[in-house]
Amino acid sequence: MRILKIAPSILSADFSRLGEEIRRVEEAGADLIHFDVMDGHFVPNLSIGLPVLESIRRVTRIPIDVHLMIEEPQRYVEGFVRAGANLVSVHIEVCSEPRAMAALIRRRGAKASLAVNPETSLAPVLEVADAFDMILVMSVHPGFGGQGFIPESIGKLEAVRRELDRRGLQKIDLEVDGGIKLDNAAAVSAAGANVLVSGSGIFDHDDYRRVIAEMRQPGGSAGTAA
Ligand code: DX5
Ligand code: ZN
Repeated sequence: MRILKIAPSILSADFSRLGEEIRRVEEAGADLIHFDVMDGHFVPNLSIGLPVLESIRRVTRIPIDVHLMIEEPQRYVEGFVRAGANLVSVHIEVCSEPRAMAALIRRRGAKASLAVNPETSLAPVLEVADAFDMILVMSVHPGFGGQGFIPESIGKLEAVRRELDRRGLQKIDLEVDGGIKLDNAAAVSAAGANVLVSGSGIFDHDDYRRVIAEMRQPGGSAGTAA
């Protein structure tokens, strides 16, 4: 079984004590902090932005995985990297020149990731995959935490992983985001995902350590993850 990285999405954290929530998931074994940015245009919701990222950068040492669900991402990439993003995901739906975008993100000092919505074809993503460090397959329609996993995402993950393997691009991470819980972690992992985003699937539990350990080794015993 592939070793999984777990990225708690702080969208489902208690924002009144965000620093403490981040420390708790970090101590519980999180590999990344997933940070969702929404603009009310690309998705029908608003969330958090640069000042919050700057603040949380000071309370964690693990990488911050910034998911930009915004139009005109090229206008904001530099600011997010400066504010502490280690990895920046932009959506193919709003990215006319993905290769230039990947180069821009990397030039600013972060890893580049390309995200794809459930209804979007994979073809344009696969065409430029070699320019990115990670591909992010959305398994819900982005905009809100707590939605149900779209089962067709399994086939999409398999298709991306198959194509990456075929082209010798095994080093590229494959992240899945939306509706990931203990009951589907094994399935998305088997389909080829190696970075699992989970918001409500982690923050709705009391014992973050246990849920992260079980998610990291789906089917294995909790608490034994390295
Ligand atoms: C959805 C966001 C996700 C979300 C995941 O638009 O991109 O990262 O927070 O939340 P859950 O795991 O609850 O579906
Ligand atoms: Zn996200």
